[in-house]
Amino acid sequence: MNTTNHNRDKKQIEVCQIVCMTSSGVIGSNGQLPWHIPEDLAKFKGITMGSCLIMGRKTWQSLPGILPGRAHVIMSRSALSLPNHQQLALANTVKSALEIAKKLTSNQRVFVIGGSEIYQLLLPWSQKVYVTEINDNIAGDTFYPIAALDQFRLLEKKPITLALTSPKNNDSHHPPDRVVSGYDKLFIR
Ligand SMILES: NC(=O)c1ccc[n+]([C@@H]2O[C@H](COP(=O)([O-])OP(=O)(O)OC[C@H]3O[C@@H](n4cnc5c(N)ncnc54)[C@H](OP(=O)(O)O)[C@@H]3O)[C@@H](O)[C@H]2O)c1
Repeated sequence: MNTTNHNRDKKQIEVCQIVCMTSSGVIGSNGQLPWHIPEDLAKFKGITMGSCLIMGRKTWQSLPGILPGRAHVIMSRSALSLPNHQQLALANTVKSALEIAKKLTSNQRVFVIGGSEIYQLLLPWSQKVYVTEINDNIAGDTFYPIAALDQFRLLEKKPITLALTSPKNNDSHHPPDRVVSGYDKLFIR
């Protein structure tokens, strides 16, 4: 084992969750995000850049591809076929997902990026939750386990406005369908 790998094995990591949800916890619809919010995508990119992302197989399949500048660990119980890429790995247990995440990045923080099943699964290991909360009734079929936030303390709450576009209009030239209020929240253990 070389020195870099040895140091990474000993490294302590901080597991954080990051989610965009409505006040009632909606995060997804038909395997996709129920909205397109450029500011939130920029926030997600800014916070997660350089880190390793852990996600469920369904969330992985909802992405356009590998997110640049970040390592990806995909959780699945089956032998999923993934593109051959240095920054992409498969894990079938939480333990292996966290071990692989440690090895794939020198960054201390690992981000759990969903979906619902994987947020729930990784909660016992998670120290922080970054939330974009949308104050609007948007229908969906997949939910963040919001009851679990009772185990955390709200450290920051900042009012925001979000320009929201329906997912079918998500090209950068399309004007927003509406502007809604919301909050940037940070929960810690
Ligand atoms: N708003 C947001 O911030 C946000 C973020 C992420 C995702 N989403 C949305 O959430 C939805 C997807 O969420 P989801 O809950 O349906 O799916 P998911 O959590 O992305 O993936 C579920 C899959 O993870 C694997 N898995 C679950 N538990 C496992 C375990 N214990 N060990 C190993 N693998 C395990 C299984 O894959 P196999 O079936 O292959 O075994 C399972 O089918 C989509 O609509 C997506 O757009 C929203």
